[in-house]
Amino acid sequence: MTKKRILSGMRPTGPLHIGHLVGALDNWVKLQDEYECFFMVADWHALMSEYADPADLKENLINDVIDWLACGISPKKSTIFIQSHVQEHLELYMIFSVITPLGWLERCPTYKEQLREITNRDLSTFGFLGYPVLQAADILLYKAEAVPVGEDQLPHLELTREISRRFNSLYKKDIFPQAQALLTKTPRILGLDGRKMSKSYNNFIAISEGPKNIRLKVQSMFTDPLRIKFTDPGHPQTCNVHSYYAVFAPERKKEIDELCHKAQIGCTDCKKELAEILINFLEPIQKKRTELLKDKKHIFDILEQGSKQAGRVASKTLSEVKGLLNLV
Ligand code: TRP
Ligand code: SF4
Repeated sequence: MTKKRILSGMRPTGPLHIGHLVGALDNWVKLQDEYECFFMVADWHALMSEYADPADLKENLINDVIDWLACGISPKKSTIFIQSHVQEHLELYMIFSVITPLGWLERCPTYKEQLREITNRDLSTFGFLGYPVLQAADILLYKAEAVPVGEDQLPHLELTREISRRFNSLYKKDIFPQAQALLTKTPRILGLDGRKMSKSYNNFIAISEGPKNIRLKVQSMFTDPLRIKFTDPGHPQTCNVHSYYAVFAPERKKEIDELCHKAQIGCTDCKKELAEILINFLEPIQKKRTELLKDKKHIFDILEQGSKQAGRVASKTLSEVKGLLNLV
């Protein structure tokens, strides 16, 4: 039986953090055995928001891919590639932009939200409005049936399906599938301050974070606000530190629950222990990272191979599409 194909991507806009690890990467690693996987560095998508200051793009790109590999994404199992190295993405994006009604894009909830919330960049550009159109091209170029993403991407997948249906119906051919989201089951971990973990809030622990920083950052975490003195019984279920235990040390979680409830452990000690758990958790990944960093050429080779492989699939789809449109 042939494996179903999936595609996912990340924008190289900064260091990957433990939220990416448990929210996406761990899932990608598992999916590799079950699906034919395409994992893409979405550098065009990064440029859409970082165009005014692209200084870190290259550095971010290589570091992110090193994180992927260190976490267990394998070029032997998956096709790992750079979006801008497969020119067909832009061609299909162009074609889709021709058939996508403006209203679909203007109404897209992520678009409206980002325009409202991101105030340190000017996102009222032509390119940014078309963000989901390029994402649809990314997915449909490979005729991916499933797309592992977080909930925040659901509106983009909805649009991808709409574009797919519109194309199929305009040109009377069932060429593109209806790509479904593959949501991760892992509970998402929040940032150190209890907000969404994000580079822009600077409330994250990077996958590459050193032990000293991890200890400092964990000590700064918000805890149960009702627990002021050591003798106050804590409410672990509302404590962010506790939710990290649930993800990174589920076997210790129950005990922490009890100790906290009975005020038998202080928050400082509870965080000290968590910091060591995280340090141990990340140690093997960081070891692999250090190894991989020694040979960056090898990483670029993997990406070149992957981009060639992706290009073979992409060019087949694009020829079919051009045929339907009578482009010569
Ligand atoms: N928009 C996605 C994000 O911000 C990144 C992305 C680009 C993507 N192209 C994709 C994800 C295609 C899945 C499939 O996370
Ligand atoms: Fe949170 Fe641990 Fe403090 Fe309880 S003891 S409130 S779980 S940090």
